[in-house]
Amino acid sequence: MTAKTSLFSPVENDLQLLTENLKQLVGARHPILYAAAEHLFTVHGKQVRPAIVLLISRATMQNSDLTLKHRRLAEITEMIHTASLVHDDVVDESELRRGIPTVHSLFSNRVAVLAGDFLFAQSSWYLANLDNLEVVKLLSQVIMDLAEGEIQQGLNRFDTGLSIDAYLQKSYYKTASLIANSSKAAGVLSGVSTDLSEDLYQYGCNIGLAFQIVDDILDFTGSTKTLGKPAVSDLKSGNLTAPVLYALEEEPHLEVLIEREFAQDGDLDQAIALIMNSSGIGRSRELAAQHAQRALDGLTQLPASDSRQTLVELSDYVLSRLC
Ligand code: IPE
Ligand code: IPE
Ligand code: MG
Ligand code: MG
Repeated sequence: MTAKTSLFSPVENDLQLLTENLKQLVGARHPILYAAAEHLFTVHGKQVRPAIVLLISRATMQNSDLTLKHRRLAEITEMIHTASLVHDDVVDESELRRGIPTVHSLFSNRVAVLAGDFLFAQSSWYLANLDNLEVVKLLSQVIMDLAEGEIQQGLNRFDTGLSIDAYLQKSYYKTASLIANSSKAAGVLSGVSTDLSEDLYQYGCNIGLAFQIVDDILDFTGSTKTLGKPAVSDLKSGNLTAPVLYALEEEPHLEVLIEREFAQDGDLDQAIALIMNSSGIGRSRELAAQHAQRALDGLTQLPASDSRQTLVELSDYVLSRLC
């Protein structure tokens, strides 16, 4: 049993059902798109987002079982996430995802763009069928935010003047918005108070920011094998993340290397060495820890349960990926 499955034990059976359902939901109408999508739902990822939706659903439905709508929300959340990864891998020209070749490298860019669109379209359809306007609005906002995040990231490539605030804003759009809004939506489906649904949003938002900062640190410190996707890829493509932004404050030469887009031999390796020898990784870790800690404030109103306890532990799990 992996650390992940034992961590998610209160919703382990729910996640198994979700994996089965996702393969059914994508439908077999278009064989190539089906193959592309199935490929990603078979070799699934960590399922952090649907786990959070299911845990919040269980924690807010103490005396009754999950409804089909709660389950469907978790499925929609993973579908949106997967769609965003298929498109992100095209934009980043990345060859590997979850340890297997990406959709665009296996098929083509054309198929990957269509497969991502297809998944976004499917998720919108299932979302509308939840028949809950508030939830529809929350998750439609996420789809807008994902596009906004990718656009901001694309426009800010190699911009050494990027602030940490602008980086966090982009990370909200790309990552935290989905976790925040789907957390809140789970509460809305359970009929919780406005106050509690806002808290759940804050929990998801801070977990999401911590998760993205950790992912950005791992891009420097992890290996392609353990990550299942290419390491040291952000800097190369000009995506300046927290470790780089902090390192820029203490290493003036780093700015020169980035501004000339690593045009000379050895530039990239030199930049990586400057970042690794700076306090960039350590300060980024602290930033992630602050958000993981802040996430816990969103759980104070939730009544005690195994699911609530797992939501608490999840904030440690996000940081433990760095160990
Ligand atoms: C990858 O998300 C994209 C980020 C927001 C960092 P995950 O690390 O959750 O990817 P999977 O679903 O487990 O593959
Ligand atoms: C998050 O950002 C991805 C999306 C929200 C699509 P990254 O670009 O860091 O994700 P990875 O590292 O490719 O998984
Ligand atoms: Mg990427
Ligand atoms: Mg990344």
